[in-house]
Amino acid sequence: MTMSAALTRPEAGRPMAGRPAYLLLHNTSEIVTPDERGERVLRIPRGAVVFRDGRVLEIGTAAELSRRHPEARPLTANGRLVTPGLVDCHTHMIFAGHRAGEFARRLAGESYASIAAGGGGIRTTVEATRAENPDSLEKTLANRIERWRASGCTTVEVKSGYGLTPAAELRLLELMRGARQRVPVRVHATALLLHALPEEYRDRRDAYLDTVCDSLLPLIRQRELATAVDAFCDEVAFSVSECRRLLEAARALGFAVKLHAEQLSRSGGAVLAAELGALSADHLESATPEDWRALAAAGTVGVLLPAAALTLGLQLPGAETIRDAGARFAIATDFNPGSAPAQSLLECAALAARLCRFTAPEILLAITWNAAKALGVEREVGHLNPGAWGDAVVWECETLEELPYWMPAVRPDCVFMRGADLALPTIERRVWP
Ligand code: NIG
Ligand code: FE
Repeated sequence: MTMSAALTRPEAGRPMAGRPAYLLLHNTSEIVTPDERGERVLRIPRGAVVFRDGRVLEIGTAAELSRRHPEARPLTANGRLVTPGLVDCHTHMIFAGHRAGEFARRLAGESYASIAAGGGGIRTTVEATRAENPDSLEKTLANRIERWRASGCTTVEVKSGYGLTPAAELRLLELMRGARQRVPVRVHATALLLHALPEEYRDRRDAYLDTVCDSLLPLIRQRELATAVDAFCDEVAFSVSECRRLLEAARALGFAVKLHAEQLSRSGGAVLAAELGALSADHLESATPEDWRALAAAGTVGVLLPAAALTLGLQLPGAETIRDAGARFAIATDFNPGSAPAQSLLECAALAARLCRFTAPEILLAITWNAAKALGVEREVGHLNPGAWGDAVVWECETLEELPYWMPAVRPDCVFMRGADLALPTIERRVWP
């Protein structure tokens, strides 16, 4: 089995014993899904979907599918909207503490860069995370992933990155593996290995790069702790050539690569991501139209992070820039305690719709098929075409146009994983034993 197959295999989310494996979800207002190639959004009024053995067997009108599948157990969607399970393709969910004090300082006028230069920012969270006991880091992460499921996400990416030293990064990646075994959500692990320079390597940047590339990366590969590798390419973080060195080494070991690019200023990260065939380039508030064209030509997904843009006072690109470039974009939370304390993907999408003027079908693609492509799993999730995993959401609304419209965001009525309606517990208050 290849590393990527091993790690994308969900540890949980199997239909539970006794649950029907053959099910007809019907009585919808409409079923809305990206097509197989993620080019168009298909809308089937009064549609139905048949799940069998964890996967989508067929979608079509309810009248037709109930005739063709008399053996399937019918389940009503109570006249509501059904979409694929959402995909949050960029989060930094494993951390301890919060930075509400820093948030207040920024609102009072200090910049993200000056707080970071003064020893705050990412390093504050690194210290809090290193000091936290492993059990509570793992349980907090599992609880967060469950909160994401309760808001409609069935696939979630989690980045390490608040460890910085090799030992601390390995610890976080191991805890991520533990957390994913507790929850019925598809969790994709990304090793974010150039996030901030650890204090102990001040003035020894090359030595840090050597350690990360020559010893940490091969260990992560050997232990199969992540499928993708990421870096923060910015004036306040790492240069294009430092990121190139890491990502080329990662690629050579068989990892997929991603990059935080063109956030606080333009540094050439988007072009680097395109050149390396990265799955995604993320942030892009400072990207130019040429950057978007480079991403489009390479098939690299541009990931917009509206919560981070709003929190840091940066401007997102307009829909026209992305459309003119012919690029694919996803929207993600970027959930982290510094730039994006944002806990609902759909809420972020509702913000992006307003800030960038996206249509409802563009929004749906951005949080399903395109986000799945940013993780390299668009054949399996992010749509409800035959063969995809049976991950779907019945929403407390009736039309696609309502998804980006309501604020706070629409809530799921139920969330299917692998064709099974797993109960949504009062999970946001869940206490682990
Ligand atoms: O994606 N840009 C780098 N990393 C995070 C912020 C991390 C932090 O401030 O703690 C981001 O915005
Ligand atoms: Fe990020």
